[in-house]
Amino acid sequence: MAPAGASPRTADVIVLGAGAAGMMCAVEAGRRGRRVTVIDHAASPGEKIRISGGGRCNFTNLSTAPDRFLSGNPRFAASALARYTPQDFIAKLARHAIAWHEKTLGQLFCDGSARDVVAMLVREMAEAGVDLRLSTDPGEIGHANGRFRVAGVEAPSLVVATGGKSIPKMGATGLAYDIARRFGLGVTATRPALVPLTFAPQELAALAPLAGVALPVRATCGRAAFDEAALFTHRGLSGPAILQISSYWREGEAIMLDLLPGGDAAAALKAARAGRGRQGVATVLCAALPRAVAQMVAGGMAGTLADQPDRTLAALGERVHRWTLRPVGTEGYRTAEVTLGGVDTAGLDSRTMAAKSVPGLHVIGEAVDVTGWLGGYNFQWAWASGWAAGQVV
Ligand code: FDA
Repeated sequence: MAPAGASPRTADVIVLGAGAAGMMCAVEAGRRGRRVTVIDHAASPGEKIRISGGGRCNFTNLSTAPDRFLSGNPRFAASALARYTPQDFIAKLARHAIAWHEKTLGQLFCDGSARDVVAMLVREMAEAGVDLRLSTDPGEIGHANGRFRVAGVEAPSLVVATGGKSIPKMGATGLAYDIARRFGLGVTATRPALVPLTFAPQELAALAPLAGVALPVRATCGRAAFDEAALFTHRGLSGPAILQISSYWREGEAIMLDLLPGGDAAAALKAARAGRGRQGVATVLCAALPRAVAQMVAGGMAGTLADQPDRTLAALGERVHRWTLRPVGTEGYRTAEVTLGGVDTAGLDSRTMAAKSVPGLHVIGEAVDVTGWLGGYNFQWAWASGWAAGQVV
């Protein structure tokens, strides 16, 4: 790092943050012949890529479309997503002989390791002549005469790619929001998203027998609904369906679980009563639900199925299909995969990610108020927004 007062090294572009978006932007700008310096306080680039997808990196989703993203302006992401698509990233992987597979719901994972994706981007940066500075504290961002100065490097373009606030233990800081505010850009309210939900002690105690149970559900909150697995844990509710719905849930709201999506529990119970009336209710429910869940739904109901009138079976069906739970919170940024909200898209050009009011300033990736569903969408946004800025800086 240059000592204070020393004349700065000049570059064309400073990229702040060597994560998914920052590296993509640096590669693209470097390939255009721009002199790019990437600055990151972490000792290694792409740490979130490395740990993502259980170490296999769910790098994109074949169903990528603007409606898979939450934002104050739902159309904002459309331009970048249309210009850099999942197929473009797949072609990049092919050039580096990185094999992949579709796991489920259009989610693409590496066959090998997420480290291959990090190594690919680092190699591409080196080939594009990018100057990567790790373990470097950006310190105060200087801005004078249309030029930015960060950690002894001066350039007319600054790309903010420092991500969101999730997983502070991995170096997430929220610096992007401070920089945005300092330059007069809006920042929408931020909150942890794609995160497990927690419950009050009494409800948690009632759910305790289910800890460790996973089952396919439809999780609903307001108008949002996701058909995926839910997982009961000692702390509350997790699993893909719950992480998805957490992005839509707000304090005070209930969520609803359909434990047999697409089925009709009341009708099935009535049919079973005709043929297997001597069995207990929980025993019959066990055919369709994990035992602990069946027992919870039956709620210690005495007698056989034959003893239950239609209205009791209808009430049981209601519990199966509309089980209402009231979370009190989330596990927070400690475990959240992403940050909802961020730098207000109103101040950014959707084609270039440039700040409309500050020439040379760009914001990309998770720092922007664009948050994807679970399943590779957040990386696709990082690649696409990084690519878009990389064409113009
Ligand atoms: P990212 O967070 O990747 O990079 C920001 C960079 O800025 C980091 O290198 C950081 O060190 C640096 N930085 C931050 N503050 C700084 C400061 N003050 N000074 C200097 N540098 C600073 N998404 C997906 O699509 N598929 C998946 O499989 C997963 N899996 C997953 C697992 C886990 C555990 C998490 C936490 C997240 C995911 N995600 C995901 C989400 C995905 O990782 C995330 O959306 C992208 O990494 C965002 O890319 P960015 O480049 O915007 O930020």
